[in-house]
Amino acid sequence: MTAALPYANGPLHLGHIRSTYLPADIYARYHRLIGNDVLYICATDEHGTPIVAGAEKEKKSPKELVDYYHDRDKLEFGALGFSFDIFHRTSSEENCELTQQFFKKLSGNGHIYTKTVAQPYCETDKRFLPDRFVVGTCPHCKSERQYSDYCENCGRTLSAGEILNPVCITCGKKPISRESKHYFFKLASFSDRLQQYLTGNKSLQPEVTNYLLNWIKEGLVDWDISRDLDWGVPIPGEPGKVFYVWFDAPIGYVSSTKALTPKWEEYWKGDSKIVHFIGKDIIYHHFLFWPAMLLGVGDGFRVPDAIAVRGYLNLEHRKFSKSKNWFVSIEEYLKAFPADYLRYYQTAFTPHSVVDADFIWKDFQTKINNELVASIGNFVHRALILIEKQNGGIAPKPAALDAEDEKVLGEIAKAKEKVSALISSFQLKEGQEEILKLSGEFNRYLSFRQPWKEKDAQRNATTLYVCTRAISALAILLEPYLPFTTEKLQKMVGIERETVKWANADAELILPGKKIGPAKPLFEKISDEKIEEQEKKLKKV
Ligand code: 2FM
Ligand code: ZN
Repeated sequence: MTAALPYANGPLHLGHIRSTYLPADIYARYHRLIGNDVLYICATDEHGTPIVAGAEKEKKSPKELVDYYHDRDKLEFGALGFSFDIFHRTSSEENCELTQQFFKKLSGNGHIYTKTVAQPYCETDKRFLPDRFVVGTCPHCKSERQYSDYCENCGRTLSAGEILNPVCITCGKKPISRESKHYFFKLASFSDRLQQYLTGNKSLQPEVTNYLLNWIKEGLVDWDISRDLDWGVPIPGEPGKVFYVWFDAPIGYVSSTKALTPKWEEYWKGDSKIVHFIGKDIIYHHFLFWPAMLLGVGDGFRVPDAIAVRGYLNLEHRKFSKSKNWFVSIEEYLKAFPADYLRYYQTAFTPHSVVDADFIWKDFQTKINNELVASIGNFVHRALILIEKQNGGIAPKPAALDAEDEKVLGEIAKAKEKVSALISSFQLKEGQEEILKLSGEFNRYLSFRQPWKEKDAQRNATTLYVCTRAISALAILLEPYLPFTTEKLQKMVGIERETVKWANADAELILPGKKIGPAKPLFEKISDEKIEEQEKKLKKV
């Protein structure tokens, strides 16, 4: 499994998390819990003009910039609980080597040719201007100030020379045209095979494949994989030329696996499943370029088995923008709230689809207070406090179960199966909703039994025993979603780490007779003041 490699050129914000790293993490954690051998791979994407331009803006060298953001991203991803098996870098030895090997294989297999092409060149800055070094008007949708390789407005990738009214991002002058030898990958010759791949793989989202099939119908264009730059993976025997960042970036998925384990080929070529998680801006690269590269290299590489795509995130109805201070960085978020609140809230509004969504501070408060605190937290805390009061903090032993007890216990087994099916099919939001329903069910059960009023001690012990079964179920089912909370809860009720398995969600894990607790609330209500503070930060501009 992979999550798209973030460019190491700026701080991560909430949008990155929702579309990619969080869904992938939930999926990875679930698969580990069911006993699958999972490698969750990520790395920083450290080449290309996004990095060079970013470094120039910050008056640093590209190397200084990527070193800084690699370390920072790693720290912040860790603080959000993302359980990568490796967080590597595309500037690594492994990636340079593997990229050159891919190139040699593709050349050897006849998929590469060279052509002399006119490239934009800036006479003031004395350099070629690939990709993000030029901005202009998109030839397709006429949107202005778009980078020359990709239109953010209509989502098309653009070839050199296509952009209208081009200007140099550094000096603002119009570039001249200068010839240069470039390497092309024969993407167009893969059209039929890509079409088969897109129509034959039923786990790909139709809303995505339909739109790609149209692009294929309109005709794919061969892909220029070289750049006149000195930052990147060198093209063998071509001083001053490097591979296009989108050539070496996806290879970073494989090379990072190679850096992690000598068994890397078993994962990429064997019976494993390859699953990528991406945001919708990089559909073209993952559904067309990347499978074509893998097919072209051959060598037993699998094409992706699934590519989960999600949409953009807006912040309070506007696009995230660091320069306009309409932005919540991970660092800032974590200063104010726990990681699991973000995981919960973002999952709650992220279906398995490319639709965009909005992060709204008030909604964040409502979701956390009404669902996490009032349903899940409230049930667990009420039950544990009752066990402390009525049973001295000893996990209760049940007497005979009646039909109602059996019925709610049956709900646990059902929820386990449902959530399992939902997560397996990437419906992570719906999976979380099922778990919330389960805690709602048990809140109702507890209110119906009223052990605080009931005089029959045996009845109460049975009621609270049934509750312990729900608590351990939550401590497992919620782990993919809320790993910090479940870790706390598992410790609080004495669930042994080796019993934490999906299959045990409906088993008796809190052993009757065992001392548990002390009970501490899992969540804390978010006050209006705390939310206003965050809203004010945005309005400061
Ligand atoms: O669009 C981006 O942010 C790229 N850095 C994603 C790369 S994903 C992969 F292919 F490496
Ligand atoms: Zn456009």
